[in-house]
Amino acid sequence: MNQQTQNSHKIGTDLKRAAELLDAGKVVAIPTETVYGLAANALDEKAVKEIFRIKGRPSTNPLIIHVGDFQQIWNYAEHVPTAAVLLLETFCPGPLTLVLPKKSNVPDIVTAGKNTVAIRVPKHPLTQMLLKILHYPLAAPSANPSGYISPTTAEHVYNNLGDKIDYILDGGACNTGIESTIVGFEGNTPIVYRAGTITIEQIADVTGQANLYSGNQHLAPGMSLSHYSPITPLLVTTDPDQLIALNVAKKIGLITYNQYSNCLPKEQQILLCKNEDFREAARNLYAALHDMDNRYFDLIIAKQFPPSAIGIALNDRLNRAAAPKP
Ligand code: TXA
Ligand code: MG
Repeated sequence: MNQQTQNSHKIGTDLKRAAELLDAGKVVAIPTETVYGLAANALDEKAVKEIFRIKGRPSTNPLIIHVGDFQQIWNYAEHVPTAAVLLLETFCPGPLTLVLPKKSNVPDIVTAGKNTVAIRVPKHPLTQMLLKILHYPLAAPSANPSGYISPTTAEHVYNNLGDKIDYILDGGACNTGIESTIVGFEGNTPIVYRAGTITIEQIADVTGQANLYSGNQHLAPGMSLSHYSPITPLLVTTDPDQLIALNVAKKIGLITYNQYSNCLPKEQQILLCKNEDFREAARNLYAALHDMDNRYFDLIIAKQFPPSAIGIALNDRLNRAAAPKP
């Protein structure tokens, strides 16, 4: 089989095939509005174990479970605070994950032994249809090898995990483009563990208050300082031209959001959005990192975003991508 035939065999929109594989305890990549997920039956320990193996993910890092509608959250969460209900009414389905006390039917392997479970209702129409066909929720981390850049197209998944999985459900390019906002609760107060396109201001508007998690970020599960990283060294800066000047001997790729730099040929640059539309920048960020990482640059430079609203989530991903690998 040539590359093209193999590729077309593994990537498609066949919901029945995806459901049959999942029913058989297999791992299937699924599209969500944020990034692609590496999914298996969340109630089948053996199937979930396969996710950890394929992704190379430490068993100490818990997974998010995905359900078809928000009523199902009560099947897996022991308690849903009023603030959580308000957030669900406003943002669900959508790029929001809630961390809630778990019921005993959620296997320990999914939650890495924690007494909380992370749950969300993805908005992507294909995955919504899939969840309606299935009789169980899907556990799914992002469909990238542990530590590498998250995938926002079926091709990204295929290029990095294609030899390890049977099927990738192709839902096109992800519309949101970065991972969901993760929110836990102290009593009735939302605590944002991972920033996303649903901002802390939006959460506080709905619930009256919200705090950014202030514990040690890299001690929080899965919030390791190095994450989403390209192989090519990446530097994040407010002043790309200065960094370009300091690295004249290197072949550089630049990712920026407002204007091309005059210090590099345009072909070596990616402009993430027009008119500083940071939703568009989020949609394009991971594809830009994948693209740059495949172009044999010595160095990738990314321009830091203004640190407010979605800029906070974008800087979070860039800073983790640039952090030294463990
Ligand atoms: O948008 C998303 O959230 C995507 C799509 C596929 O749904 N999923 C995703 O999963 O980003 P993953 O595994 O790459 O990141 C999930 C994060 C991890 O940092 C994990 O540690 C954290 O959620 N998490 C999961 N369960 C948790 C829990 N019970 N308490 C605290 N953090 C938890
Ligand atoms: Mg991930």
